[in-house]
Amino acid sequence: MNVVISIGGSVLAPDLDPERVAAHAKAIEELSEAGCTVGVVVGGGGVAREYIETARDLGANGVQLDQLGIGVTRLNARLLIAALGQRATLSPAADYDEAVGSLRRGEIAVMGGVMPGQTTDAVAAEFAEAVDADLLVYATSANGVYDADPNVDPDAEQYGRLSPAELVDIVLPMSRDAGASAPVDLLAAKLIDRADLRTIVLDGTDPSVLTDAVLGGDHGGTDVVPETCAEPTRWVE
Ligand code: UTP
Repeated sequence: MNVVISIGGSVLAPDLDPERVAAHAKAIEELSEAGCTVGVVVGGGGVAREYIETARDLGANGVQLDQLGIGVTRLNARLLIAALGQRATLSPAADYDEAVGSLRRGEIAVMGGVMPGQTTDAVAAEFAEAVDADLLVYATSANGVYDADPNVDPDAEQYGRLSPAELVDIVLPMSRDAGASAPVDLLAAKLIDRADLRTIVLDGTDPSVLTDAVLGGDHGGTDVVPETCAEPTRWVE
C-alpha cells in the first residue's frame, strides 16, 4: 500500500521537543514495517508564520516570503529525517522525481515545500499523485473538515465522508475569506479531485491515530472518497 502523509508543522514541531518528533517518526516506521511504502510531507507551522510576518514587515515580496516558508518546512523535514534514521533518505527531496526515486529504492521519502505560490497541502497531493498513492493522509491540528471554523463557531459540524468535488466546494468559500483557515487548502482539494485520491483529514496530534487510520481505516476525522475508489486492499483483508 502506497501512502503519503502530510504532517503539519504545528503537529510535528509546535516547539522543539525531541520526544514528540520521535513519536511521529515511530508511527511512520510502524507503517513502513507493516509493508507500506511511505512518503511524508512536513509543514512549517507557527515558526514559518513568524519568519514570514517578520520578513513582511521588512518589505519582502511574496516570493521571498514563500522561500522563507519553504526553508522552515525543509528544516522540519530534516528534524523528522534525523528521527527516522537509516530508513529515510538523508535529505528532503527537492522535487517529486527525487521523492518517488527514494520510495522505489525502499526508503522513506520526506519532503518540505518545493516552490513558491502554494503550501505543503498541495505538495502532499502532488506527491500522492506522482506515486499513485492508495491513500493520502493530512495529519493536521483540526479533526477533519467542518462546515465552519470549529475554533470560532461552537455549532460547526464535522463532515464524516465527502467526495473530492464536495471538498472543493467546501474549501472554495473558505479560500476567499482571509480569516478562515481550511484544514486542506483549495489547490490541494483541486489536485485531490483531479487525481481521484482517497484522502483522510484527521487530528494528527497523537501519532497512534495515524497508524490506526492507515492500517485499518479507523479514525475520527473526515474521509474523502472518490466514486471510482475501491477500499484500500489491506482494510478488506
Ligand atoms: P505550510 O504548508 O506549513 O503552510 O508552509 P500553511 O498551510 O500556511 O501552514 P499551516 O498548515 O497553517 O501550519 C509554510 C509556508 O511555506 C511556503 C508558503 O508561504 C507557506 O505558507 N510554501 C510551502 C511555499 O511557498 N511552497 C511550498 O511548496 C510549500
